[in-house]
Amino acid sequence: MAIFITGGAGFIGSAFIRAWAKRYPTDTIINFDKLTYAGNLDNVAEAADHPGYQFRRGDICDAAALRAAIPDGCDAIVHFAAESHVDRSILSAREFILTNVLGTQTLLDVAREKGARRFLHISTDEVGGSIPDGHFFAEDSPLAPSSPYAASKAAAEHLARAAAHTFGLDAVIIRASNNYGPYQFPEKLIPLALTNALEDRPIPVYGDGQQVRDWIHVDDTCAALRAVLEKGQSGATYHIGGRSPLPNRALLTKLLDLLGKPTSLLTEVADRLGHDRRYAVDCSKIERELGWRPEIPLEEGLAQTIAWYREQATWVARARSGEYRQYYAQVYGAL
Ligand code: NAD
Ligand code: DAU
Repeated sequence: MAIFITGGAGFIGSAFIRAWAKRYPTDTIINFDKLTYAGNLDNVAEAADHPGYQFRRGDICDAAALRAAIPDGCDAIVHFAAESHVDRSILSAREFILTNVLGTQTLLDVAREKGARRFLHISTDEVGGSIPDGHFFAEDSPLAPSSPYAASKAAAEHLARAAAHTFGLDAVIIRASNNYGPYQFPEKLIPLALTNALEDRPIPVYGDGQQVRDWIHVDDTCAALRAVLEKGQSGATYHIGGRSPLPNRALLTKLLDLLGKPTSLLTEVADRLGHDRRYAVDCSKIERELGWRPEIPLEEGLAQTIAWYREQATWVARARSGEYRQYYAQVYGAL
């Protein structure tokens, strides 16, 4: 099987590649990534020995680069590449529109040209907007994105559905809740809090810290993606959640407890603009239809993640300093 992955040097994409390479040692795995600040080839170093693994540096907005990299009749395209951080989209939405919207359409067009057999599009629970207490976001609920990031992701999945409906592309869409685990760039809440706490530095809590997110370990997400890729209905959307909803302050208190650090590190700061209060995906469809369920309890996943970050001081230092980016600029040049 030949599988083409965009954004495979990022957090979830690299976890997907590492797991895929272990499970399917004879597959061809092509990792196509622009290597933005969030793309780090250290994340896929483990897969580099896999005989079928190839890395191609490129931008998903560049149709010629995609044409050169996607094999004819490729079995599956798994599309992770995106600008993924909400706070950055509030500062400037431009890159989000280019990569998440224009890039997704460019990839969909080339996927059709190349006769890709299946297209798995990675979306987010954020496209449903803030969900009132007592309600859940289901696959057929209306979309109501609030941030520029979520709006760009909503546009992207509409384009994937349009390609399925109009041209018969075999596209499947997943919407995942908040992922955590090893190799997550330390701008997102858990790795930021964890790495700050390890150095006894303050942890910024936006507003009152009562915003609710549903946490899922990245390995559980990757298992769900494999199930959807292999058994998901063409044209369908599936929600993936961790069944571990927690207000941010409660999550951080748990994390500090596991780290043996005081809650006095929690420091209330100005709230995120337009901050969504609660995400809550209904993930019963994938559980019912494909038999997938999250298997890693939050406490266990957090303990494993803490252990990883404790041991990976070099990875953290390189990620924070952006050292690997200078190296990529020398090896691959500017895009
Ligand atoms: P990430 O920011 O860690 O990684 C994104 C990757 O995409 C990086 O390797 C980056 O270099 C690459 N990339 C960015 N622009 C590109 C372009 N124009 N061309 C090619 N490559 C490009 O993101 P992540 O957290 O791993 O998220 C992966 C996907 O999952 C995204 O689509 C995101 O919206 C979605 N998602 C993430 C979460 C989460 O909690 N992290 C939850 C739900 C959905
Ligand atoms: O829900 C899925 C989404 O989860 C993904 O689509 C996004 O790509 C991913 O970034 C994530 O978005 P969030 O905005 O929920 O994640 P983030 O880690 O940025 O923030 C989680 C919560 O913690 C949110 O309520 C904001 C808050 N927060 C975040 C940071 C970085 C803080 O209180 N302090 C912080 O320093």
